[in-house]
Amino acid sequence: MKLVVANWKMNLTASETRAYTAAFRKGLTALEGVEIVLAPPFTALAAAAAAEGRWSLAGQNCHHRSSGAFTGEISARMLADLGCRYVILGHSERRRDFGESGELLSEKVARAREAGLVPIFCVGESLGEREAGATEEVLERQVADLAADPAGMPLVVAYEPVWAIGTGQRADGGQIRGAHGRLRSLLAVRSDLRILYGGSVTAETSGEILGLPDVDGALVGGASLDPAGFARIARAAIQR
Ligand code: 13P
Repeated sequence: MKLVVANWKMNLTASETRAYTAAFRKGLTALEGVEIVLAPPFTALAAAAAAEGRWSLAGQNCHHRSSGAFTGEISARMLADLGCRYVILGHSERRRDFGESGELLSEKVARAREAGLVPIFCVGESLGEREAGATEEVLERQVADLAADPAGMPLVVAYEPVWAIGTGQRADGGQIRGAHGRLRSLLAVRSDLRILYGGSVTAETSGEILGLPDVDGALVGGASLDPAGFARIARAAIQR
């Protein structure tokens, strides 16, 4: 079964989330055969949970410590308590804008596990790295931060090339297959691994992307903000 994840980033208030979930539910007729996850901002998680649809929830981030004097931060346990099953970790926007290092991300993965959350661990090269032929090296380095995570635990890895995020320029089939194949061999010890593609996935392109071998689903940013469009992506995932 494919997994489609809506990463709303810093969009949609709690009241907008109520309108979104009502509209999204209408687009989801007979949606067996696809796993749907919504990742609203922290302030809208409760509204998305209360709407009780055929989706589970993800946090977009969590702190690397379990509790304490960290003003403004959110722990993995807080997310689990609100009903989250997943947490997105290592998104390139956090790596880039908040300087999140591999070491820090390993700690976040450990906190997620303690709280019973499944990490959606994001990896991906920048344009400069791809042009320098360093894509495989970057993926290898980023995946190495999962070394301490028990191999038998369910894990989701999202391949999100930085140059494809929010640019409208998605990776092509060959690039996706190459990266996913590499990730799968780097993570061969994992017994429960799903690899998602993310980066300018739209309702129009989702069918083709989700149909690629080695693509277990999609992590969708901008296109997930439209409930009808995201419902289309979820439907496209069913036949794949
Ligand atoms: P876009 O789908 O807007 O390119 O964003 C992808 C992403 O970063 C999802 O986490």
